Amino acid sequence: MQEPEVQAQPEPEPQPPELTARRVVLRPFRDTDLDAVLEAADDPLIPLITSIPSGVDTAGALAYITRQRNRLPAGLGYSFAVAERRDAAMAVGQVGLCLRDADIGRGRIRYWIRPSFRRQGLAADALATLSEWAVSLPWVRRLELLIEPANEGSWRAAESAGFQREGVLRAFQPIGGTQRDMAMYARISAPAAPPED
Ligand SMILES: CC(C)(COP(=O)(O)OP(=O)(O)OC[C@H]1O[C@@H](n2cnc3c(N)ncnc32)[C@H](O)[C@@H]1OP(=O)(O)O)[C@@H](O)C(=O)NCCC(=O)NCCS
Repeated sequence: MQEPEVQAQPEPEPQPPELTARRVVLRPFRDTDLDAVLEAADDPLIPLITSIPSGVDTAGALAYITRQRNRLPAGLGYSFAVAERRDAAMAVGQVGLCLRDADIGRGRIRYWIRPSFRRQGLAADALATLSEWAVSLPWVRRLELLIEPANEGSWRAAESAGFQREGVLRAFQPIGGTQRDMAMYARISAPAAPPED
């Protein structure tokens, strides 16, 4: 009798781990996170600094979610949905770690919180959670954030998560048709190794 043919199963796509903190859970995006993306698309700034188009429809929001899930398999970065611990099924934002400069020890972080969940400390907690995890990754020497100096909610969240302001990069980033100043914030993973004798 012939042995039944064994079908090779495709490897599951790698996804970010689930990180649980005091207030938030960071987890992979799900199709049910649609409402968060639709709300983010009505924010004046988020469509200018992310790939969420202003006023996106359901199909466009699902396409954004798929792009987030594809980032790690493509080697581009980790993209987490931010949820509150008390209702981890509902996304309230996004936080991501870009791998573009991973070979030189640098990770760039980006984040947003949907407008109806702001000013509750969620960005600060999400950023602290992501950066605490990221500094334990073997390749991370330095985590960076670029923040417009007037974006007080963002730089306050950054400082509470242990990032230090290093200076302002003038006319650094095109956002919404103007070349904007950006403050560089960074957190270093470990003290530099002592010089050898
Ligand atoms: C910036 C953003 C992520 C902040 O999210 P949030 O969840 O409201 O932030 P938090 O509640 O954690 O607030 C952190 C601190 O900033 C303060 N804060 C928040 N929004 C603020 C605002 N609009 N003006 C002044 N202070 C603000 C909070 O009171 C808190 O202060 P504290 O450290 O003294 O307690 C959110 O406004 C957002 O998504 N904006 C659009 C996208 C964006 O700017 N992303 C960051 C790009 S660098």
